[in-house]
Amino acid sequence: MAVFPGVKAALLTYAAHVLAVLAAGAVLVWSIYFRGGLAFEASNKSLIFNIHPVLMLIGFIIIGSEAIMSYKTLPWSHEVNKTIHLVLHAIALVLGAVGVYAAFKFHNESGIDNLYSLHSWIGIGTISLYGIQWIFGFVTFFFPGLSPALRRKSLPWHVLFGVFVYVLAIATAELGFLEKLTFLESSGLYKYSPEAFLVNFTALVVIFLGASVVLSAIAPANVDAPHGYTAVSEN
Ligand code: HEM
Ligand code: HEM
Repeated sequence: MAVFPGVKAALLTYAAHVLAVLAAGAVLVWSIYFRGGLAFEASNKSLIFNIHPVLMLIGFIIIGSEAIMSYKTLPWSHEVNKTIHLVLHAIALVLGAVGVYAAFKFHNESGIDNLYSLHSWIGIGTISLYGIQWIFGFVTFFFPGLSPALRRKSLPWHVLFGVFVYVLAIATAELGFLEKLTFLESSGLYKYSPEAFLVNFTALVVIFLGASVVLSAIAPANVDAPHGYTAVSEN
């Protein structure tokens, strides 16, 4: 799937790491400095909400990004990298589920309806598909593991579906930032305030992060290597 010849995946993964650090820093500054901090139990219910963007961005999207890039970034054997890939995806899934739970908890304790927005519908779809992708990946490539021929056949589908779900997660986060900022602005936040800029800036960084992760997955590990999924490992 070498649609990106001439650029080594490593270059894109460096960019992704820098963007991930920037995005993580920005969402923490937003939720702690501008929005008052994070708490699972609080009389100020907004602090419960704040856990949501932090876990969805750092826990779900950034750890999921590192999981996707693990085959290109890590120096170990295919077998070790595969274990790290599956463990990081599992951690992303669990933290993402806790993040979604925080949004529900905030709604329930504040008397706000659940699942009324496009963001929440696509969000539930994303986290469910992520779980399905994980189970299929696990059964196909890890335990019990399909025959080498079937693994070879399913790998392009695994990559395609994995990239699709990842892009869906990026899109969900974009909708989330937009929605939250719109709520804040309609309850008085100045549209050109530093906070409004920070939220839009974070959302922009997340788009660039998503783009570099997707391109790193479809770029060849080595520019000189034959392009495409020719040498699919047997394990
Ligand atoms: C891939 C990442 C994300 C997923 C899967 C996701 C999922 C969800 C879900 C399922 C809900 C519904 C909760 C309920 O109905 O009680 C929700 C609510 C919400 N999320 Fe996210 N979210 C993500 C990222 C974000 C981000 C980065 C923000 C930025 C602030 C955000 C802002 C919101 C807001 C404002 C709500 C409450 C309003 C609503 O239900 O639409 N989300 N999210
Ligand atoms: C939601 C979870 C998952 C997502 C989103 C996902 C996504 C991806 C993506 C995008 C790639 C392509 C990476 C690249 O070529 O640079 C990939 C490769 C791969 N994944 Fe997953 N994956 C998930 C879970 C799993 C699980 C649980 C396993 C089980 C071991 C697994 C095994 C593999 C294998 C063997 C490859 C091929 C690596 C190679 O090119 O040799 N994945 N995955």
